[in-house]
Amino acid sequence: MPKLQIGDVTARLPIIQGGMAVRISMAPLATAVAEAGGVGTIAGSGMEPSELAAEVRKARRATSGVLAVNVMVAVRKFKELVQAAIAEGIDLVIAGAGFSRDVFTWCREAAVPMVPIVGSERVAKLAERFGASAVVVEGCDAGGHLGTEEHLMDLLPRIVGAVDIPVIGAGGVVTGADIKRVLDAGASGVQMGSRFVATEECSASDGMKRMYVEATEDDIVLVRSPVGLPGRALRNPFQERASRGVYPKRPPCRSCLKECGKEYCIITELEMAQRGDVEGGLVFAGASAASVHDITTVAELMRRLQDEWRAAEEGAA
Ligand SMILES: Cc1cc2nc3c(=O)[nH]c(=O)nc-3n(C[C@H](O)[C@H](O)[C@H](O)COP(=O)(O)O)c2cc1C
Repeated sequence: MPKLQIGDVTARLPIIQGGMAVRISMAPLATAVAEAGGVGTIAGSGMEPSELAAEVRKARRATSGVLAVNVMVAVRKFKELVQAAIAEGIDLVIAGAGFSRDVFTWCREAAVPMVPIVGSERVAKLAERFGASAVVVEGCDAGGHLGTEEHLMDLLPRIVGAVDIPVIGAGGVVTGADIKRVLDAGASGVQMGSRFVATEECSASDGMKRMYVEATEDDIVLVRSPVGLPGRALRNPFQERASRGVYPKRPPCRSCLKECGKEYCIITELEMAQRGDVEGGLVFAGASAASVHDITTVAELMRRLQDEWRAAEEGAA
């Protein structure tokens, strides 16, 4: 597989493990991915800056591979979280769920490449103008908060044509053949979330991992998030009640978002699923969760992705 170059950071494989909050992609997952040659991402949203700093420190001590932090622009402590990760020696900053001009300045001052998640050509061009080192393009099949209704393979070629920086495709990538499809469309790499949830190193609860493995296409749904964006998730009692406008009241409010619809607490619901309450909590997942059939180790998954990519390349030759 080709290497992934973002600014002066090089990963041996063009695979970014997407940041997944709250506490789903932590040091063990990010370290394993970085050790296997990809980019391992720790998600900071929903954590205190001191907790994120400790997590980055743990991962940094365990690997010299490429580590990223992912923070949602929508969280109130966005600046503190990004700066805590930079102070601990993170290699890349990835930011989604909103657009921040300031983060480009913080990253430039620290000489850390900044990679925003974008859902349109307009925002991709804006990001390039502000100094983005690459962009992640997330299609509507992705897990978590969604910024577009377009599928990755429709959006990707237009964004590749609109900017001169590396473009990373996300949403619906599960196999090495998927990676080939995205790279053939002009991307320099892929970002994968759902497939990494079903790994031993992921910090999601066993119940959440099992839900992924058992999910069928009928289980993949959209849910309104108080962040103001739709989110892709797995069907469960929480989501079914939410789809009828019935939301749990779980005080006290931690004022964690800059702006919150307050229908429910997104951080609390995501934390509940991460800890094992997969009926009462919100189980974010991409449409690709329906194609995830086993829980494996990161090393085995990364081997498998390379074998599948090679087979797809040879098949096409
Ligand atoms: C459980 C879960 C939590 C996620 N949390 C975040 C997050 O905190 N920030 C973010 O930018 N993206 C988040 N995402 C999106 C992923 O980083 C990734 O871009 C997406 O899952 C790619 O689509 P895929 O699941 O089809 O691979 C999340 C995805 C999942 C499945």
